[in-house]
This record gives sequence, C-alpha cells and structure tokens, in this order.
Amino acid sequence: MLNVAVLISGAGSNLRALLDAADEPDYPAHIVAIGADRDADGLQHAADFGIPSFSVPYRAYASRDTWGEELATQLRAWSPDLVVLSGLMRLLPENVVAEFGPQIINTHPAYLPEFPGAHGVRDALASGAGQTGASIIQVDDGIDTGPILAQERVAIEPGDTETTLHARIKPVERRLLIDVVRRIATGDIDLS
Ligand code: GRF
Repeated sequence: MLNVAVLISGAGSNLRALLDAADEPDYPAHIVAIGADRDADGLQHAADFGIPSFSVPYRAYASRDTWGEELATQLRAWSPDLVVLSGLMRLLPENVVAEFGPQIINTHPAYLPEFPGAHGVRDALASGAGQTGASIIQVDDGIDTGPILAQERVAIEPGDTETTLHARIKPVERRLLIDVVRRIATGDIDLS
C-alpha cells in the first residue's frame, strides 16, 4: 500500500477526488496526511475523511527556506512514499525537493510545457489557442519543468472564461491524477 501525503492551497477539489478514489477497497494507495501552506478550505476534506492534516502558513515564516524546513518536518512525521502537490500554489523549497524527491508529483491545468506557472488556465485563454490540457508531472527544482507522467488535451470553447475553462480541465486532471497515483503504487510508473 502506497502511503501518500497531499499538499494543497485551495478548495482541494482535486484532493477530494483522490480521497474518494483511495476510499475504494481495491485502490493501492492510502492518503496518510494532508498539508497546506495556509488555512486552506480544502483541509475540511481531511476532517471529513478523518485524515490527519497540518497547516504551515507561509506568511508565518521569515523565508521560503525556514518555511520549507517546517514543511519537511511535518511531512517527515508521516513517512510518505509519495508527496502529491494538488493545487499547492507555492514553489517547493530545494530542501523539500531534495528530501522527498523524486517521489513528488504535481498536477497542472495546462498541457506542459505549454503555460507553466501559477496562471496556466488564464495564460492559455489569453493566448487564443483552441486547446489546452492537463498534466501530471514529476517535481524537480524548476517551475513545472519535471518529467511528464501523463497529460491530455482539453478544448478551449468560444466564450470560455477562466472559470469555465478551469472547470472543464479539472475533471481531466482528477482522472489523470488518480490513474498516475495508482500506476506509481503498482510499480507501473517508476519515479526513481
Ligand atoms: C488545480 O487545477 C491545480 O492544477 C491548480 O489549481 C487547481 C487547484 O484546484 N494548481 P483545487 O484546489 O484542487 O480545487
């Protein structure tokens, strides 16, 4: 059974999809802890599922590095086999990537390497492109530059807003995330 820690910053709708999948008896991964870089609404999903959670408020720390040290301490307590970034809106500090990598994956609402960074949906919409996508990548020290583990195209429809486009992308992200975690758990994907 693969022990997974998930890090979020927002509503955690993708996290919730992973929690629902992991609730199935035949799913080969178990969410052991949920962490956030703020008092994220998505932490409620941890309470709903009775899963331990922690918050390391970025703004409470003097630097990214000291924040990263506390984040690593919190994660380490759960000995995760895999860390999933699911809407974490922070670049992981090098100490966290060094300690938990290469067993760290991230979900991104664009067809990487197109539109990396914190505004992938907005940037795709602004580009006038007819399609974007969703990607699951392995986390390295860059910004959405790690190896692509899964990705799928999502159409941009006339009249789309960032909200409507993101709402079309998220179900694809969730499906890809659930499948990639399953494939890591079964050894079909080897992150090392
Ligand atoms: C997801 O699309 C994720 O890829 C992006 O932010 C969104 C988080 O949504 N970084 P939620 O918090 O899972 O609802």
